[in-house]
Amino acid sequence: MNECRHVAIIMDGNGRWAKAQGKPRTAGHLAGADNIRTVAIAADELGIKYLTLYAFSTENWKRSADEVGYLMKLPAYLFGRYMEEFLQRGYRIRLIGDLSALPAATRKVLLDAAERSQANDGLNLIIAINYGSHDEILRAVNDYAADVAAGRAEQGIDEAGFEQYLMTKDFPPVDLLIRTGGEQRISNYLLWQIAYAELEFIPEAWPDFTPEVLRRCVDEYYGRDRRFGGIKNE
Ligand code: FPP
Repeated sequence: MNECRHVAIIMDGNGRWAKAQGKPRTAGHLAGADNIRTVAIAADELGIKYLTLYAFSTENWKRSADEVGYLMKLPAYLFGRYMEEFLQRGYRIRLIGDLSALPAATRKVLLDAAERSQANDGLNLIIAINYGSHDEILRAVNDYAADVAAGRAEQGIDEAGFEQYLMTKDFPPVDLLIRTGGEQRISNYLLWQIAYAELEFIPEAWPDFTPEVLRRCVDEYYGRDRRFGGIKNE
């Protein structure tokens, strides 16, 4: 069975979780931010090496200015509260997404976290922020075309070559994609990288995604038969 090295999660359901408790949507996002620490520790203990979390999509700018403003402050909350522990645990913070469009203070917090942890070789905790697959793939295409035009690359690229232009170039493909919150959509997340991933859509909202639920998802992964388009090896 292929080892579950890379787990990607669409952290959905924060708003509904908060509403069910009579709280504002932002309370769900705050609980969601705290849950990142809990789930990172659980993932690390399960031997997962890469955990990619969808914190903000290129489409999330359509939300109210108040909600977007709140979400943009969460990296400072998350790393302010837990960065020392992440460092102590050997985690390396990595980033994917168009950081240039983020508020300067948010960008700085994220880049600082990545820089401070860059020598670590434990869990890669990858934050996808202002990330969208279409945006990523178009950038890759345009960067490659520019390299060809400038004579830096040959025409006719293969898969491994193309992957070098993606924001995820340093990471292995996704083995398991989990979406919390009950919807069954991919929402422009890691479209290239999930080509052979197992997909799990689960009802629990992200703040209710406990270590036990992660364990259940990983157990389910190991129970499935991944053939990558081939036939079963007996
Ligand atoms: C989806 O729930 C969640 C998001 C758009 C944001 C996810 C963010 C966090 C978990 C907090 C951590 C964030 C950062 C930047 C470190 P939803 O609001 O769509 O929930 P709903 O579907 O119930 O409305």
